[in-house]
Amino acid sequence: MPTNLPAWGVYVHIPWCRTRCPYCAFTIVVDRDSPKHAYTLALLRQWEAVAPQFPSPPTTLAFGGGTPSLHPPEDLTTIIRTIQPTGEVSLEANPGQVSLALLDAWREAGVTRLSVGVQTFSRRHARLLNRGHTVEDAEALLRDVARAGFRSWSADLIFATPGQTLAELDADLDALLAAGPPHVSLYGLTAEEETPYGRAVASGRITPADEHAWRAAYERVVSRLEDAGLARYEVSNFARPGHRSTHNEHYWRGRPYAGLGVGAAGYWPDGARTQGPEDVAAYIADPVGTCAIERPSPADAAVDWLVGTTRHVDGLALDELRARGFTLRDDVVRGLVRAGLLQTTPTGLGLTPAGFPVADGVLSRLADALTPA
Ligand SMILES: C[S@@+](CC[C@H](N)C(=O)[O-])C[C@H]1O[C@@H](n2cnc3c(N)ncnc32)[C@H](O)[C@@H]1O
Ligand code: SF4
Repeated sequence: MPTNLPAWGVYVHIPWCRTRCPYCAFTIVVDRDSPKHAYTLALLRQWEAVAPQFPSPPTTLAFGGGTPSLHPPEDLTTIIRTIQPTGEVSLEANPGQVSLALLDAWREAGVTRLSVGVQTFSRRHARLLNRGHTVEDAEALLRDVARAGFRSWSADLIFATPGQTLAELDADLDALLAAGPPHVSLYGLTAEEETPYGRAVASGRITPADEHAWRAAYERVVSRLEDAGLARYEVSNFARPGHRSTHNEHYWRGRPYAGLGVGAAGYWPDGARTQGPEDVAAYIADPVGTCAIERPSPADAAVDWLVGTTRHVDGLALDELRARGFTLRDDVVRGLVRAGLLQTTPTGLGLTPAGFPVADGVLSRLADALTPA
């Protein structure tokens, strides 16, 4: 591969799930005789149509979901061999569905990184999250993945579940760290509209973690993980040296990516944003025509870039913002710096330790402060 080609990635959405978790708003289909091979063929047709938009072979390929561990390994192999990424190939795997033989098959197919959807090690919270697997399934999969010889792996956890105490969070973090993951993603539970959990919160049947509890939990997460050598490099992501997710770095750095499959978002080198349809049957019938293509205005594109890049520990490069035709209102930046939420970096601006827990609020203030350069 020539050395000066830009880094970019391919995201492939695999929508099957054993059950629908009550808090999840992603595009999924509860798996009953799903048309998996027809879906693979549709992905390959979409790839053929989309690849000419990109200048070179992709550097990364990520299978997300849904539950990619439910997709036939031989189909995953075909997709990887067709797309031929030059670097990281990652796959999200759910506990309770993965044998040692399947881990071998994925490694042989070219998967280099696994992301395990643990979410919690607490039986009480596992019931609340209504995952289709047990705590023992999660512990067993982490043990197997740690020994399976992938270049890297990660565990996903959810915190700030309703009623979670700091002692319960500590117990989750103890179990997580005992598994020795080189990378961790930790998301605070959000109440998405149109999910059973979101409706229960909206109607007052469930009381979510309040801002104070959320912040205390997030700060505990950061200090425990950083003490264990897992450095925060994005609001919700922590890694040992050399184990960052190179695919997700494309999103945070405003690099292009192709999005294949239902519900998948894409961002082309010419600035177009794409969005796959919700319906699997419609997608299989016409994987190219059902994908919506939109060309955002320069202002919307600058907001998208700003939101991604400022969540990253490297922060926002002011030169790059200017190259995109925008700058930030001085009074707003000065106010955020004075409040201790934003700091200057060698190339621009970054969140401070006090800014990370309230990143969404800081980002919306910055987005409102964008002005043409
Ligand atoms: C959509 S899942 C796909 C991977 C896999 N199916 C799983 O459940 O782990 C990707 C990540 O999003 C997280 N997620 C989904 N809905 C969420 C919510 N409402 N709040 C916080 N995290 C959420 C999941 O827990 C998981 O870590
Ligand atoms: S959280 Fe994961 S397993 Fe649960 S419904 Fe969403 S994609 Fe499926």
